[in-house]
Amino acid sequence: MAANARGEGPEVPKIVWNESQKRFETEDKKAYLQYELRDGGKVMDIVHTFVPTSKRGLGLASHLCVSAFTHAKSHSMSVIPTCSYVSDTFLPRNPSWKSVSYSMDPKSNI
Ligand code: COA
Repeated sequence: MAANARGEGPEVPKIVWNESQKRFETEDKKAYLQYELRDGGKVMDIVHTFVPTSKRGLGLASHLCVSAFTHAKSHSMSVIPTCSYVSDTFLPRNPSWKSVSYSMDPKSNI
């Protein structure tokens, strides 16, 4: 990942929680992760992730997912990875977040 202009190391994009639109997004709103709330707000179903073509392949979607999973964990929510980026790329590459994923088996959510 690119260093910033002063060479201070990897640049981490600022991700903002947009509660009214149920999104985690970049400040310019061009990249976002969209979710729906299920089970009375206890479950975050990530339905879509979008990054503009010019910014793909730099880990931006991964940063969006980390923000969403961190939020879900800190609010004792579980996550349904409906979006294929989350289920097929983010979780296999970041298996520690699987503990926050929704499971039909109550034993594995302890
Ligand atoms: N499903 C699963 N994985 C996908 C994917 C998809 N639809 N599209 C791309 N990926 C993988 C790529 O294989 C890539 O792997 P690589 O690192 O080996 O090249 C990896 O995502 C890139 O990761 P990252 O840099 O964190 O993602 P990104 O910032 O480039 O954004 C998407 C990834 C999917 C959000 C972006 O490509 C996009 O907006 N696509 C159009 C919308 C879409 O298909 N969204 C996902 C389904 S809801």
